[in-house]
Amino acid sequence: MTSPPPVPAGDARRLAAESLAAGDSTGWFERLYAESRAGTAEVPWDVPEPSAHLRALGLPPGGGRSALIVGCGPGRDAEHVAALGYRVTAFDISATAIDLARERHPGSTVDYVVADLLDPPAAWRAAYDLVVESNNVQALPPGIRAAAIATVGTFVAPGGTLIVLAAATTRLDSDGSGPPWPLTRAEIDAFATGDLSPVSVTRTPAPGTTLPTRWRAVFTRPSAGR
Ligand SMILES: C[S@@+](CC[C@H](N)C(=O)[O-])C[C@H]1O[C@@H](n2cnc3c(N)ncnc32)[C@H](O)[C@@H]1O
Repeated sequence: MTSPPPVPAGDARRLAAESLAAGDSTGWFERLYAESRAGTAEVPWDVPEPSAHLRALGLPPGGGRSALIVGCGPGRDAEHVAALGYRVTAFDISATAIDLARERHPGSTVDYVVADLLDPPAAWRAAYDLVVESNNVQALPPGIRAAAIATVGTFVAPGGTLIVLAAATTRLDSDGSGPPWPLTRAEIDAFATGDLSPVSVTRTPAPGTTLPTRWRAVFTRPSAGR
């Protein structure tokens, strides 16, 4: 079988390394999006299609229920979830990413917001029927990962669902440098904060390829009064 072409992660890794060396865990995201917009860098995850792993979960129609998309980038998953009938809020720490999302999806029903997962608006607590965390924690360094993981679950409303999609390994031909930095099973389990409990946690293999294996995890919070 032919190996897929390598993900062009060089710009992300260069900027991440510079940012982390300066003690800034997340500043490289804005720099990467801004350089990409200027045509001097490539954002490796910026593809038009929604996540194949999110689509594979086969979300039910939203029917007007609320959804929060964490670290939405230019909006590929937010638009997918909105098309299913959810009222979507999508946020990213990068102002340029949010500008790109708004520009690329004119007339979108998604509310795109600049916000920091590590300091989110208080009003988002227990406010969303569906929360999607896809590929973000894997791009964060160890010092802030536990806090990021603990915060994601706080957004889930009673009766709501949390979806976590993340790298379980990187490419087998990788030199081990990140981002991404794959999540351990213990980190996946740590998303079950408070009364959130796992519905399913699967590790999706890609045998015979150099593609990374992925976590697909679904959690729910009991309905109020139960
Ligand atoms: C690897 S990208 C994945 C983007 C998107 N989820 C996707 O799969 O296409 C990680 C995203 O998380 C955003 N991000 C990183 N740290 C964040 C934080 N503390 N709060 C909100 N967004 C953050 C980055 O700007 C970036 O858009």
